[in-house]
Amino acid sequence: MKKWLSIIVVLAMMAAMLLTACGQADADQANTNGTDQDMSQEQDNQESDALYKPGTYEGEGQGHAGPIKLAVTVNENAIEKIEVVEFSDSEFAEEPRDQMIENIIAANSADVDAVAGASLTSSSVKEAAAAALALAYVNGAPEDNSAAETDEDTAPQVLEDRTTDVVVIGAGGAGLTAAIEAKNNGANVIIVEKMPIIGGNTKYATGGLNAAETSVQKELGIEDSIELFYEDTMKGGGNINNPDLVNVLTHNAKNTVEWLIGMGADLSDVGRMGGASVNRCHRPSGGAPAGNHIVEVLYAQAEKLGVEILMSTQATAIINEEGKAAGIEVESNEGIYNIHAKAVVVASGGFGANNELVAEFRPEFKGYGTTNHPGATGDVIDFASTMNVAYVDMKEIQTHPTVMPSNNYMITEAVRGNGAILVNQEGQRFVNEIDTRAVVSKAELEQTGQSAYIVFDQGVRESLSAIEGYYKKGFLLEAETPEALAELMGVDPQALAGTLASYNQYVAEGVDPDFERPDMPRDLVTGPYYAVEVAPAVHHTMGGLMINTDAQVLNTDGEAIDGLYAAGEVTGGVHGNNRLGGNALADITTFGRIAGTNAAQSIQ
Ligand code: FAD
Ligand code: SIN
Repeated sequence: MKKWLSIIVVLAMMAAMLLTACGQADADQANTNGTDQDMSQEQDNQESDALYKPGTYEGEGQGHAGPIKLAVTVNENAIEKIEVVEFSDSEFAEEPRDQMIENIIAANSADVDAVAGASLTSSSVKEAAAAALALAYVNGAPEDNSAAETDEDTAPQVLEDRTTDVVVIGAGGAGLTAAIEAKNNGANVIIVEKMPIIGGNTKYATGGLNAAETSVQKELGIEDSIELFYEDTMKGGGNINNPDLVNVLTHNAKNTVEWLIGMGADLSDVGRMGGASVNRCHRPSGGAPAGNHIVEVLYAQAEKLGVEILMSTQATAIINEEGKAAGIEVESNEGIYNIHAKAVVVASGGFGANNELVAEFRPEFKGYGTTNHPGATGDVIDFASTMNVAYVDMKEIQTHPTVMPSNNYMITEAVRGNGAILVNQEGQRFVNEIDTRAVVSKAELEQTGQSAYIVFDQGVRESLSAIEGYYKKGFLLEAETPEALAELMGVDPQALAGTLASYNQYVAEGVDPDFERPDMPRDLVTGPYYAVEVAPAVHHTMGGLMINTDAQVLNTDGEAIDGLYAAGEVTGGVHGNNRLGGNALADITTFGRIAGTNAAQSIQ
């Protein structure tokens, strides 16, 4: 431990020296390009009131998925520009990052308020800017007077209250769906979204949306049934799912698909996901990512109907009027206020990005990466307790088995569904690749290095356009032959070539004697070949608020709470101890519709 501490200290010193050298080098560069006048000006600076030594200085902060590095350019008295040199976080964090940069330039200081709903991104940007400015100050950083601020200075401004019929917390898939249906049923609706962009985890969804007996399946000649969908879902969830909720999900998902298609969604490609007996996962043609497309369709409809969406506005409490939900308290960049409403729909998503909370329920996941967007922190799940809500299955938290350890980027299960295999560091298969996530994640953790490689060929690549995104981002190792690919992976070439040859034989025979993989849609014989290293990361929180089949939130006595509805990942009970791939999009839209409809009808 001591040895590690010394190494860390030495590395930190080296980094500080490098940063100083870099900032200094840039400053020197600025001066060597200048004239004698510049040099004498520099001397003057030492004695003058100049705040900064002109130049460009780099500083680093720690973001959600890795470091953020900024290059801050200053003149004598002001920050001129800030450029992003390195940024590892998701696209969700780009908007708050840029907002913070703008605020820092305007304030001429790294000491600015965080952007609402993006505290981690805000603090990482502040950290990086402060580190750069520390190198730029002529006489050190100006004194921090914030401690001297009075409570009055720091207290948020109290704004005028608003009133509506239905208020929805969260502009992800469930919230947008609920808002549309509430509006369709005659209610005035406001959605509050704490992040600066809409979409939540729904925007990230890739593989697709499960439904049985849809018109699309019929057109493609896929035989499926609601009963089989129900059985797969219950089995996948370890049979601890609430059967009534699963019944509603499996019977109504096909109507949800038709509803989405009716609003312009393209769900014409149907593929296989883990734990499904047949192909029932609906996605855009060519196998394009499903979530962003669905969010776009829902958002366009919500806009068309006149749903009001308040961005960067965080719900902080549910107003409890003698046990009835009567609106919410919110906080925005401008201040705090109440939104009074006749019904509240909670659609705030899960808590996969809150590792502290995850580890509270599942200590073995402490320090795990996550596929989730940074706003998936579960704050509403927490404060909803003031309504005496009942919670269910809180410790049921799922890892996704194919997440890149370097950047937490999820490689969709659809890649395996369309034919890819998983091999370990020895170049051997070790599991039925399209088993449930719980099974595949566990098997992966038993392999050398607790990771694996997804391996596939050009045929699989061409079957799923989502793969093009991975290719363009440079995630894939690529080689003309299995042996050459193995070299890139650091795996024994003969072992990988042998594994592929056996697998291709199983495809030809239609039977996998090693792991009983039930569906092997294509052989892997067409170069180039591709691989990407993956490991499990926290993906879905199956537990949450307990609801009934009408999407009403139940209290600890099992009674429906007046005026309080919930849908989506914030709820529990639908997925048991393991959600099947494709079942969340079905859940959030199906129960989102029910929640929005019932919330609106309850107030008529
Ligand atoms: P979200 O979409 O997360 O939306 C919740 C919203 O509420 C967020 O925008 C959040 O910022 C906001 N919010 C939270 N707290 C507050 C607050 N206090 N005030 C205001 N706003 C708040 N499932 C599938 O079925 N198929 C897939 O292909 C699939 N792929 C996935 C890929 C990835 C990378 C991830 C992470 C998940 C995937 N899932 C998939 C799961 C699925 O996307 C989610 O379970 C689902 O989208 C959750 O929808 P939601 O509307 O409940 O929550
Ligand atoms: C994926 O595309 O692998 C994720 C699907 C899901 O979480 O349902």
